[in-house]
Amino acid sequence: MGSALTEGRKLFTLKAISALFVLSITVFLIGQSNHTAVKIFTVPIQNVANKLMKSKAGGVLRQEKLANLPNKTGAADSNGPEHTTSRNAFALFLTPPHGAGKDSDDLNDDDYFVATRMLVYQLLYDPSTRTNNSYPVVILATQNVAQTKLDRLRNDGPDVRVVGRLALNWGKTRKAWQDVLTKLRLFQLTEFEKVLFLDSDTLLTRPMDGIFEDPAARPTKNKGATAEDEAPEDEGAQPREYIFAGNAGAGRFNHTTTWPPIKGRHLNAGCMVFHPSEELYEYYLRIAGLKDCFDGRFPEQSLWAYAHRRDGNMPWKQMGYMWNINKVTWSDVEHGVASLHVKWWSHMIDPRLKDLAMRIRGRMEGFWEGKESHNILE
Ligand SMILES: *[C@@H]1O[C@H](CO)[C@@H](O)[C@H](O)[C@H]1NC(C)=O
Ligand SMILES: *[C@@H]1O[C@H](CO)[C@@H](O)[C@H](O)[C@H]1NC(C)=O
Ligand SMILES: *[C@@H]1O[C@H](CO)[C@@H](O)[C@H](O)[C@H]1NC(C)=O
Repeated sequence: MGSALTEGRKLFTLKAISALFVLSITVFLIGQSNHTAVKIFTVPIQNVANKLMKSKAGGVLRQEKLANLPNKTGAADSNGPEHTTSRNAFALFLTPPHGAGKDSDDLNDDDYFVATRMLVYQLLYDPSTRTNNSYPVVILATQNVAQTKLDRLRNDGPDVRVVGRLALNWGKTRKAWQDVLTKLRLFQLTEFEKVLFLDSDTLLTRPMDGIFEDPAARPTKNKGATAEDEAPEDEGAQPREYIFAGNAGAGRFNHTTTWPPIKGRHLNAGCMVFHPSEELYEYYLRIAGLKDCFDGRFPEQSLWAYAHRRDGNMPWKQMGYMWNINKVTWSDVEHGVASLHVKWWSHMIDPRLKDLAMRIRGRMEGFWEGKESHNILE
């Protein structure tokens, strides 16, 4: 009996060895030949790979492992308003300059970091722009942001959460934008009903609280079948209801002569109101796994533009044009647009916009200097 078992094992080993042999020959052939027959043979293998991506979103999408979204931090000992049970929140995203390299501890040498602090100051403290409903500010930061920066931001009041990075393995994103797909994690902020995301290089001219009541930010029914088996191939189930209010770019910088600015068709992901939803997040991850479904150079913006395409089941909606402008001119400021997307550190911008930014920066720095020296005196 024992020997029969051994015989069986031997036979099994032999079979396994020959199977491996055949497999390696096949793999070799696939690698070497351009012959059509071989190509046809590779198709089913490709399909299996696609299925894997579809179910796990792991084949093409790289996900840094971190314990989900960390719990709230920094709220208890921060200077900010009480972050308790607000329905709505403002959210920002921070990653080190130049993509994934080692971040520096220098708090003044990183324009996006300074811009983030300015926007936090404007959202929480500046009397002319701060929230009039005590809405909290949440910042999602990638793991490679320097600890000194995380500490400084927490001290400024926001709820800073370090999240695992998401990246495409197939995109051609510029190095500086490598981490931007991580912004999809904004949809995991499910303790809030609505979130306003703003790019850090945004200046405010008045409070943003009213944007949550914009008609475009109302819950909307999915237009199509939401069940997995009825959804577009490979994309899987969709939520029955969603909120996605975005803003199209206002043409060029020459929109001064036409008011209101002429809206383009393309979604700009620098200012948007949405309903965070794990279901939608999972849906995005599945789409991210479908190579060439959208433009990998601007991954998060193109992914959202595709998932919420105008002729799809969950079209994005244009918010009121007074809320935000992407390519800012001074005339937008004069017209009273509430938030202005402007890289104020760039050499090419209107000096009046630069002045506006420097006044905000000065107020922000003075505010903290005053507050902190006052705390020392106490
Ligand atoms: C978050 O809090 C829960 C319960 O308080 C705890 O079980 C969990 O480990 C925490 N997660 C992290 C990432 O700290
Ligand atoms: C305060 O917030 C509400 C939105 O909740 C808005 O409608 C209102 O205009 C805001 N007040 C001011 C002074 O901006
Ligand atoms: C702005 O410039 C673009 C070309 O750069 C042109 O197509 C468009 O008509 C101009 N718009 C206005 C309002 O002048």
